[in-house]
Amino acid sequence: MAKTHSTFFCKNCGASSAKWVGKCAACGEWNTYVEEVVHKEKEDFKSTWKKEGIVTSRKPILINEVQNGNEYRIPIQDQELSRVLGGGIVPGSVVLIGGEPGIGKSTLLLQVALQFRGMKVLYISGEESETQIKMRADRIPFANPDCFLFTETSTQRIGKAFKELQPDLVVVDSIQTLQSDIIDSTPGSISQIKETASDMIRFAKETGTPVFLIGHITKDGTLAGPKLLEHMVDTVLQFEGDRHHVYRILRSTKNRFGSTNEIGIYEMQSGGLREVSNPSEILISQRDEALSGVSIAATLEGMRPLLIETQALVSAAVYGTPQRNSNGYDGKRLNMLLAILEKKCGLRMGMQDVFVNIAGGLRVEDPGIDLSIVASIVSSYENVPIDNKICFVGELGLSGEIRAVSRIEQRISEAEKLGFKTVYLSKFNKLPKAKIGLKIMEVAKLEEMLQFLFG
Ligand code: TYD
Ligand code: MG
Repeated sequence: MAKTHSTFFCKNCGASSAKWVGKCAACGEWNTYVEEVVHKEKEDFKSTWKKEGIVTSRKPILINEVQNGNEYRIPIQDQELSRVLGGGIVPGSVVLIGGEPGIGKSTLLLQVALQFRGMKVLYISGEESETQIKMRADRIPFANPDCFLFTETSTQRIGKAFKELQPDLVVVDSIQTLQSDIIDSTPGSISQIKETASDMIRFAKETGTPVFLIGHITKDGTLAGPKLLEHMVDTVLQFEGDRHHVYRILRSTKNRFGSTNEIGIYEMQSGGLREVSNPSEILISQRDEALSGVSIAATLEGMRPLLIETQALVSAAVYGTPQRNSNGYDGKRLNMLLAILEKKCGLRMGMQDVFVNIAGGLRVEDPGIDLSIVASIVSSYENVPIDNKICFVGELGLSGEIRAVSRIEQRISEAEKLGFKTVYLSKFNKLPKAKIGLKIMEVAKLEEMLQFLFG
């Protein structure tokens, strides 16, 4: 019988130790060590797919001798994912995509797998049966005759499939279900994740095959498994959104081959995920007449300008303590805006319930939407609608001053494209030289703006 022994692993960084220790010597965290059974008597992953006789003779090379030029990227049909990855898939890259259960991770990657034509894609699933995946694939309006399904969790057997099939792209759903035969602990444990992820990464790097890994997230929203997993892969994507809303946002939190500023927006439909290439149009509700408590903010998500609708409802507080509720906007910042309105503009916000919402289930962190939030609050308070051809952009300072925001040209031109006639912005923003087709209202202080809007 194979000799078994156990090792202790740090839940935070994945470091191992023969004995239990209270404080991890590698990352300094306390109480993170857990015991896992390991024995190394079996065939290891590499021997399953590696061809014999290949000896790589690597040696140090001068930086100037390294061939430069644009690295080749595999083009993908899905423009949203392509942009988030930095313009296609880099051969040999490993992309980890995390998100809450039911958000659409499997759907997204199955869709990507089916969009490739003339490329052999291997979709490995440890979560669903072939029939289940086929049922899902039937709902998606793409077909790739070279898409293979493999419901397997052992990396050794997966390695044999790699050798046999020589895929051009691999999708693993999910990394937490994989297991390596050389480790005895259950799938999803730290030692398993560490081992199986490094198996997949080794395969990707040595063969140049891109690998997508789906990862579960924990209760507090971080990727399950050691933090090390995020260090090991090239790109970490976060798929988020409210399950009850149809919109999904794909963000990158780490990208070795591109910026992390880009986002991708999708809409979950009955036939899979649809790319939303012009988000502003759907985020602004179509309405004929202006309503009170609604205003439009010109914001940025990543590099992309976006016009969103901010809504507020202000009503006299019926209970002793007025309620403040904010959806999609920072609640602490809302309190700050209300304090500014009270102190600088003399509005009695202390007696009012205030509810703020960003349409479409979006969460916005850009402080440039402050001005629009304030405008919708005052509009609701005064019960005076704001013309629906007006939009706002500006950050509010504590003394009621309106501060400049970044990338003003892009925000203005997006507003112009969508047919807005007037934009309120900070006097301190440097305006572009080019001709602007809409009316610019430069304001320095909040009182000034409210004077213009509500008299
Ligand atoms: P799924 O990809 O299974 O999520 P994850 O892998 O992140 O857990 O997606 C689950 C949800 O997506 C499910 O509740 C049903 C919905 N869905 C659609 O609305 N339309 C579709 O075409 C598909 C395939 C799924
Ligand atoms: Mg899934």
